[in-house]
Amino acid sequence: MVRVRAPATSANLGSGFDVFGVALDRPADVVSVERAAETTIEVTGVGSQYIPEDPDANTVGAVAQALDAPAHIVIDKGVRPSSGLGSSAASAAAAAVALNELYDCGYSREDLVPIAAEGEALVSGTAHTDNVAPAILGGFTIARADGVTRVGADVPMVVCLPETAVSTRDARDLVPESASLDALVETVGSAATLTTGMHRGDPALVGRGMEESIVSPARAKLIDGYDAVETAAREAGATGVTVSGAGPGVLAVCRGDDQRDVAGAMVDAFEDSGVEARAYRTRVGRGACRL
Ligand code: HSE
Repeated sequence: MVRVRAPATSANLGSGFDVFGVALDRPADVVSVERAAETTIEVTGVGSQYIPEDPDANTVGAVAQALDAPAHIVIDKGVRPSSGLGSSAASAAAAAVALNELYDCGYSREDLVPIAAEGEALVSGTAHTDNVAPAILGGFTIARADGVTRVGADVPMVVCLPETAVSTRDARDLVPESASLDALVETVGSAATLTTGMHRGDPALVGRGMEESIVSPARAKLIDGYDAVETAAREAGATGVTVSGAGPGVLAVCRGDDQRDVAGAMVDAFEDSGVEARAYRTRVGRGACRL
């Protein structure tokens, strides 16, 4: 049997829609695989009741098929589905790494990124790699059609999850089809600032570099209380706030000693808007690892 832990991830980071992603040091999924004549899937843990066990409908089933690696697969969910924390990507990444070992397929971690993304296509309609890349490789990743660049980074963050769900498909439908040149110029400036901040481990630059006005404002409308949560996080010290992935999770970048205050302020602001929420104090972490 092979067991692999793969972390939650936050994609986009504002200015890097479908490109940027970070591995978070918590929460995480754990996937166990055993050789079998055909693939069967069992799901336990957070939100498991919402995840299909039919291999044809499960992100991990798509990965087993892509690797031609039939197995009995047990997914222990730590990352809540439809939360904006790369829940399907965590399972897909863990399964890709585990099945690669189980069957001695010999793929590199980089090779496994597009394979794990097959699962994303099943869930959201697009094989975007901005969650699976950091889930497999760890750190901050820049995912493009021609490959992934990884930057080791250490930046404190808070992700706050309201007790509501947003489907990635619905959130993708809200993304505008075109943008003004001014908005693109702003986004490029932010993306460059964020990347520099990750290299330097500088939370002020990372927070500023998340600013953009094309994707996140459109999606924030799906999250009750978003504006109040953003304001509260900034007042508590966050250097930047954005929608985590497709939402409804909200990501805040912190300086370090302000994490507890930022987390508390975000939960309170959601609750003042009538939405239950929980916050994880986390930081950029490592990718999938064998247990
Ligand atoms: N980049 C993707 C999106 C991540 O924002 O739609 C969601 O999984």
